[in-house]
Amino acid sequence: MIIRVGIIGCGSIAKFRHAPEYHENPNVEIAGFFDYNRERAEALAEIYGGKVYSDYLELIEDETIDAISDCSTNETHHIVTSAALKNNKSVLCEKPIAITVEKAEIILEAEKTSKGILMIGHNQRLTSAHKQAKAILQSGELGKIITFSTTFGHKGPEYWGADKSKDTWFFNKSRSVLGVAADLGIHKVDLLRFLLEDEIIEVSAMAESLNKRDSNDALIDVPDNMVCLFKTQKGNIGTATFSWSFYGDEDNSTKIYCEKGTMMIYDDPDYQIIINKMGQERICYQLEEIQSNDNQTSTGIINEFIDAIIHNRQPIVTGEDGRMALKIIEASILAAETKKTVKVVLS
Ligand SMILES: NC(=O)c1ccc[n+]([C@@H]2O[C@H](COP(=O)([O-])OP(=O)(O)OC[C@H]3O[C@@H](n4cnc5c(N)ncnc54)[C@H](O)[C@@H]3O)[C@@H](O)[C@H]2O)c1
Repeated sequence: MIIRVGIIGCGSIAKFRHAPEYHENPNVEIAGFFDYNRERAEALAEIYGGKVYSDYLELIEDETIDAISDCSTNETHHIVTSAALKNNKSVLCEKPIAITVEKAEIILEAEKTSKGILMIGHNQRLTSAHKQAKAILQSGELGKIITFSTTFGHKGPEYWGADKSKDTWFFNKSRSVLGVAADLGIHKVDLLRFLLEDEIIEVSAMAESLNKRDSNDALIDVPDNMVCLFKTQKGNIGTATFSWSFYGDEDNSTKIYCEKGTMMIYDDPDYQIIINKMGQERICYQLEEIQSNDNQTSTGIINEFIDAIIHNRQPIVTGEDGRMALKIIEASILAAETKKTVKVVLS
């Protein structure tokens, strides 16, 4: 079975992950690309073949296309993804699902009546260490989870995005809206929901623009650093740190502390998971390294999306997962702004 795919938004995530991973998948034919910046669409079409569309609606309305990747910037996800769903295309929408929970709900409304499936690009669920970590937690060998901490930090999106300058949309309040929280934080919030099999129901947070400056040399008006405290439905507490100013190694680690031992994920250069049982037994897992801005291996997200389409099943990250992760991030920003603990309503 061949799935014909179109890519909307031809910046870094399309160039480094979506286009090459579709190209590698034997069940995919790349139908074409659209970007406001035509040169970026042309550059990908030159490598991978397919048509360069002149408008996102032209691509979405192309009846020969089965599925699209929405790799546009955050503020247009609710427009592009819901239009594609309404045209009965399956959609892999990049994270965050939208810039507000309200806008995410527009997408979920469109999903209800669509013949296409919806998946959100929370690729952390698919790394080999995270899948293994979930299996270890589910096996019960570490006992119940008590507390956790997670971190995602790198040197900033101006080193990653297509526009490598201080004018990057990631620093623009109206386009990225939630800054590092919706760029890196949302990945870890989704990962926590996946690993802990629990819901975050209460948050406290601090979020600041500490370091990044725009082209006028003013501090940016979205947070570049954020620290959160989370309480879960099962009664556990933990912390999360998100940063765009780790000017050395990227930190993508998660630590889970359980009744019978600890689990360190992506906290060691050689071993992707280290289990320590009461200081007496140490089990080290050598798995694939996590993808980073400098290490672009396959994320598995495309294969999962295509397999879900072929088998007409729910993908591993649903639209509702995307909405819940955004809900927690919105609550965390509100907690930081009001300097109050905020409850996350689970509905
Ligand atoms: N899953 C991940 O790990 C991951 C990593 C990076 C970025 N992302 C997400 O991917 C999306 C794109 O990020 P990026 O890093 O590629 O940014 P980028 O700036 O490199 O590229 C974005 C591209 O989209 C184009 N664009 C914007 N709106 C458009 C629209 N409505 N129609 C057509 N083209 C449009 C821009 O012209 C630009 O070329 C963002 O939502 C981002 O959060 C996900």
